[in-house]
Amino acid sequence: MIISVQNMEAPCGAKITGVDFSNPVSSEDLKQIRKAWMDHHVLVFPDQKLTNDDLVRFAEYFGPIGDDPFIEPIDGHEKIAAIHRRADETGRIFADNWHSDWSFMPVPPAGTCLYGIVIPPHGGDTFFSNQHLAYEKLPSNMKEKLLHLNAVHSARTAYARDGAYAKDNGAMRITVSDEAKKIQLHSIARNHPESGKIGLFGGSYVVDFDGLSHEEARELAAELRDWQDREEFVYQHKWEPDMLVLWDNRSVLHRASGGYEGYERRLHRLTIADNPDYYSDG
Ligand code: SIN
Repeated sequence: MIISVQNMEAPCGAKITGVDFSNPVSSEDLKQIRKAWMDHHVLVFPDQKLTNDDLVRFAEYFGPIGDDPFIEPIDGHEKIAAIHRRADETGRIFADNWHSDWSFMPVPPAGTCLYGIVIPPHGGDTFFSNQHLAYEKLPSNMKEKLLHLNAVHSARTAYARDGAYAKDNGAMRITVSDEAKKIQLHSIARNHPESGKIGLFGGSYVVDFDGLSHEEARELAAELRDWQDREEFVYQHKWEPDMLVLWDNRSVLHRASGGYEGYERRLHRLTIADNPDYYSDG
């Protein structure tokens, strides 16, 4: 099969066909796919009939499987988490704010893969925002300011015992804990560890900015939130069953969305640790 990479005609995202992940994939093909990942940040592989083991093998092509704190795995498969909402649920949609997965870790995951199993007939799109572009388009005084600033990341507002996910989470298997109160600093504008390209690295786990007053930090966070949400940076992804998506947490933010009341939605997810041995020239 010949691999084809089709640009989504959006600020990020490409559709990849000509590869079947239910079978082992050659190192030449993987090299091409990794390059497409660095170029497009979000890769969409339609029509992949995968078992859970196939999904693990897919993730391991891109790095070691990452740790998934605060979400219990699915039964019988310790490495896979389910993003699941039953048809009768009415509570808050899980992960409906812009974030980079587990950005509060000392070394956050390079990527996440999500595989569509039960997809509602409408709604439930995932949005991705290109953070290289978001940085590039900033006014130069803002770029300069951000270059010298560390953001404080923490899971506390989501996963602490008094966090947003401490209540009923429906079908999501979330465990809240005091671990969520830990903090981790990362530069808000930083070079992508693999491509070297500069981008914003923030999102909903940013709880403060090092060295700013509470008021300054609050204002900057609001300003950045409005900026990162701009349509000119965003690709809106529509799901199909058997569709596999791989995104780069180091270059995009993402968020879930609702609009499928009365329907079930279930996807299987793995995070991929950031390990330079897997980089294109590693
Ligand atoms: C996630 O943030 O992993 C969930 C995305 C989604 O449900 O669309």
